[in-house]
Amino acid sequence: MKRFLIIAFLWLPLLCFAGSATAETFTCLACHSAMQGKIRTEGNALIDVNVDADRYAKSVHGGFDCVTCHKQFHSNPHEPAKTGDVSKDVASLAGKISRRAKVDAVALAACTQCHSDIYEAWQESVHGKNVMNSKEPDGAVCTDCHGSPHYITPKGAAASPINRKNIVKTCGECHEREDMAKKYNMGTHIVEQYEESFHGKKYILGHQNAPTCVNCHGSHDIRKWDDPKSPVAWANRTQTCGKCHKGATRKFVTAFTHKPIGKDNPIPYYFEKGLIVLLLSVFAFIVGHVILEAFSEIRDRVLRKGKEDRHE
Ligand code: HEC
Ligand code: HEC
Ligand code: HEC
Ligand code: HEC
Ligand code: HEC
Ligand code: HEC
Ligand code: HEC
Repeated sequence: MKRFLIIAFLWLPLLCFAGSATAETFTCLACHSAMQGKIRTEGNALIDVNVDADRYAKSVHGGFDCVTCHKQFHSNPHEPAKTGDVSKDVASLAGKISRRAKVDAVALAACTQCHSDIYEAWQESVHGKNVMNSKEPDGAVCTDCHGSPHYITPKGAAASPINRKNIVKTCGECHEREDMAKKYNMGTHIVEQYEESFHGKKYILGHQNAPTCVNCHGSHDIRKWDDPKSPVAWANRTQTCGKCHKGATRKFVTAFTHKPIGKDNPIPYYFEKGLIVLLLSVFAFIVGHVILEAFSEIRDRVLRKGKEDRHE
């Protein structure tokens, strides 16, 4: 206990940093900012025990106590929560997403206290339904797109995973994975296709108006593309493309697809097949022509020779 108090004392200057954070947080950080490395918990999750006090203080949540989210934790390691510390809403949400949480589903559900609209939108999304209804372990949760909950910075910051420069990579963590694309039958190499598209090329060049994934699909209420509420469903597509292409018509919006050239994308597919057939027939024609020519040459010579022989 004495040693613990000394550690706590050493961290006194943190209080100045942490703004409104209280002594309890100070205690948590006394251990968690001093400890380094990864530990396997009783539940077999591999966790990073370190929380960088400085980065935490500078994050958007830096003024909050650890227990604002980690409601079931109390200092001196981890006295169990008192009943009533976790509201009904948070507890019930925590139950539904527990599959996707590593160690503390309550902390992951606690975002809803302050971002309830966003949490509700997410619950209706293809990602939220994957986790809550299908009970699959793959759908994106808050921390997949926003990174560590301890170091979230405004989206304008260069390090933010949702910064315009990083968002394609963030979605790509999952959408470039072949196993996931196959499992959910949602098209492989989406990011690669995007980067080769007219939009992706402009994005890479730094064109400020080139759409990224979220300009077309939204961010929290992302849906399957054929869900009528998806911004890229046929009925909404002229409006979505129309944000940048004034007066986009139904015909114009068919110009877009992530699909590589293949049977699912018939016009370029058969166009390409046609080109190949054409090329092969031209080739066959030329080769055939050369052979026939040579053949007739030989035949002429042989015949002529024969005739000349008979004359003699
Ligand atoms: C005396 C040191 C100490 C203090 C104080 C402390 N922790 Fe921990 N904490 C640990 C250790 C060690 C682990 C590693 C795994 C374990 O033992 O559960 C850990 C693990 C965790 C985990 C990962 C989940 C888990 O169950 O392992 C969370 C979350 C956590 N601590 C939050 C907190 C919060 C919030 C506070 C303050 C209210 C706090 N800790 C105070 C030492 C401490
Ligand atoms: C804005 C909410 C929030 C705050 C504030 C917060 N945490 Fe966390 N923390 C989380 C979430 C969410 C997780 C991930 C839980 C999961 O996936 O099971 C997490 C995970 C952790 C872990 C495990 C690390 C890992 O590898 O998953 C530790 C340790 C931890 N927090 C300590 C702290 C400490 C110490 C503080 C205060 C300085 C703190 N947290 C403040 C939300 C928060
Ligand atoms: C106690 C209230 C509270 C809790 C709990 C909370 N947040 Fe926040 N969050 C805020 C406040 C306040 C801001 C700053 C708003 C601003 O500056 O406009 C913020 C900002 C954010 C931002 C915006 C960053 C940007 O681009 O500007 C994200 C992302 C975010 N929080 C995610 C989360 C996640 C994920 C959780 C759960 C792990 C969570 N928050 C839990 C209060 C909270
Ligand atoms: C699929 C990725 C993804 C997931 C999952 C996700 N977010 Fe976001 N979030 C984004 C993007 C992208 C933005 C930026 C939106 C914009 O630029 O309009 C954003 C913005 C925010 C903001 C800033 C407010 C705003 O409207 O600009 C907050 C707060 C936030 N998210 C919280 C959350 C919380 C809480 C969760 C979990 C329920 C969550 N996010 C899940 C991608 C995601
Ligand atoms: C210009 C708008 C636009 C942009 C930018 C965009 N998408 Fe799409 N996305 C669509 C449309 C339209 C569909 C409908 C299906 C199709 O034609 O491919 C779709 C379909 C999808 C699908 C389902 C594919 C299938 O075959 O089921 C996924 C997954 C997807 N997009 C992810 C992404 C990701 C990740 C990014 C960023 C790298 C992105 N999208 C960028 C418009 C866009
Ligand atoms: C942690 C992994 C993960 C991340 C990160 C992620 N997704 Fe997804 N996404 C999935 C999974 C899994 C599905 C399929 C869920 C299902 O069908 O049950 C999906 C489905 C989709 C779909 C619907 C595809 C269809 O069938 O029409 C779109 C669109 C989509 N995601 C866009 C995005 C965008 C945009 C981002 C980044 C802002 C993103 N995703 C980030 C895992 C992820
Ligand atoms: C956020 C803005 C934005 C959205 C949304 C958007 N585009 Fe674009 N699009 C652009 C930009 C920027 C270019 C490059 C224009 C240039 O080179 O002058 C472009 C280029 C194109 C081109 C190449 C030919 C041309 O007109 O330059 C086509 C075709 C196209 N987009 C179709 C679509 C379709 C279909 C959708 C909807 C599924 C869509 N776009 C959504 C911004 C957008």
